[in-house]
Amino acid sequence: MDPAIWDIGYLIASILFILGLKKLGHPRTAPTGNLYGAMGMLLAVIVTIAQMDFGATDTLLIIGAGLGLGALIGYVMAVRVQMTGMPEMVALFNGFGGAASALVAASEVFKLIDSGEWSDLGWLELRVAWIAIGLSALVGWVTLTGSLLAMMKLKGGVEIFGTWYRTPTWGPEWLNYIKALILISIIGLLYMTIEQPGNQDYVIAIIALSSILGILFVLPIGGADMPVVVSLLNSLSGIAAAFTGFIIGNNVLIIAGSMVGAAGLILTNIMCKAMNRELIDVLFKSFGGSDKEQVTRTKVGSDPEEVAMVCDGISKCVIIPGYGMAVSQCQHQVREFADILEANGCEVKYGIHPVAGRMPGHMNVLLAEASVPYEKLIEMDDINSEMGECDVALVVGANDTVNPAARSDEGPLAGMPIIDADKAGVVVIVKRSLSVGYAGVDNDLFYEDKTMMLFGDGKQMMTELVSSMKEL
Ligand code: TAP
Repeated sequence: MDPAIWDIGYLIASILFILGLKKLGHPRTAPTGNLYGAMGMLLAVIVTIAQMDFGATDTLLIIGAGLGLGALIGYVMAVRVQMTGMPEMVALFNGFGGAASALVAASEVFKLIDSGEWSDLGWLELRVAWIAIGLSALVGWVTLTGSLLAMMKLKGGVEIFGTWYRTPTWGPEWLNYIKALILISIIGLLYMTIEQPGNQDYVIAIIALSSILGILFVLPIGGADMPVVVSLLNSLSGIAAAFTGFIIGNNVLIIAGSMVGAAGLILTNIMCKAMNRELIDVLFKSFGGSDKEQVTRTKVGSDPEEVAMVCDGISKCVIIPGYGMAVSQCQHQVREFADILEANGCEVKYGIHPVAGRMPGHMNVLLAEASVPYEKLIEMDDINSEMGECDVALVVGANDTVNPAARSDEGPLAGMPIIDADKAGVVVIVKRSLSVGYAGVDNDLFYEDKTMMLFGDGKQMMTELVSSMKEL
């Protein structure tokens, strides 16, 4: 068949990716965007398989079995994952993306070395191929091991033979010199692969050092800075795919990889802004610390009837959701509470912090599921300008994102912008205890006189609050 047909297939797939990405930019069009992206990928896979030369039926069988098994595992994981487990799954998939690219690059280089075909490459061709292979291995393996560690950090730890080990956050200043040394060694090895293209030991050494670098790169990052590292790893998985596209001469892989790389970098930039951090600081300073502060203070809790009475007749309420809303899945009860207030003439808005929950857009997805209109979801900067006029701020399972400790210069949250819940007339906080949030910092807001703590599971407390409101 005319090879131009395959290029047209790849072109259509690329257009679908671009349109998909554009549509993912708004919650209303995001499902269509997702579908476009999936269709583009399906087309790219079909075109790639269709142009393969299946010398032996074995190859066809192996590819078919790989596709079938991969699709089955992906389907089971996607069906079984809880909403709260999504961030870990995204981190894992980033890692798999990096690993897939790195494995393709490695198999290509070993094939060239074993068959001796590398000696047929021209001077420039050889250098371009070996640099691309080295960079793909570097970025791919860093992405794999870094993402696996990031996944465990998001989980909080890992269970090995029934024992739970907490994921450490550790990064003294001198570790940066070790990382720099490893990176320089990898560049040196890359040079050696070009000098001695028939020696595969250098490639194996690049793979080993890159795997170690990935772990050292994520190890010091902790606390509230994890969103930055997850989006950066996402970007790296795309860059690895683009390098691999160069190696195997696959245009659609170059295009899709570059798009993931660029989108991931933009997201990393957005996350850095949301955390008020420089990327360099996140990567080379250890902000997080794995130690969680011990809570020693106490606070008497309120009950839903008291809170319902406070909310009776108010004119403005801002609801600030956080990770606890995702855990307890109480978005529907939150919406019901807002409906009652609105029926009584109260203006209700939702204040959305960019890193609330555990993945970008986490709160938007949950609230959309409960049919909360998009225009009521107000971004942090905009809602903060209104918090002074707010009668009641209802904080549902949020902690770090409303913690005034972020306004100080010290600790894991230092400098992170927060939603100014403390500027509201009364603050109602729904959570199970006084325990710390993801960054491990005690929250002064809980102990303020104007704060009412509704201790309990989010869904149970919101259900009781809704009943109390109805009884008024
Ligand atoms: P967090 O600071 O993580 O606090 C969540 C609170 O929810 C906890 O203090 C917990 O308190 C409460 N909670 C847990 N289960 C609950 C339940 N069943 N019912 C009611 N409350 C429950 O939440 P946040 O304010 O959303 O902040 C997000 C944090 O995660 C930030 O530090 C952010 O940097 C980090 N992070 C974000 C992302 C992205 S991209 N969004 C990715 C990785 C990390 P109790 O145990 O007392 O109930």
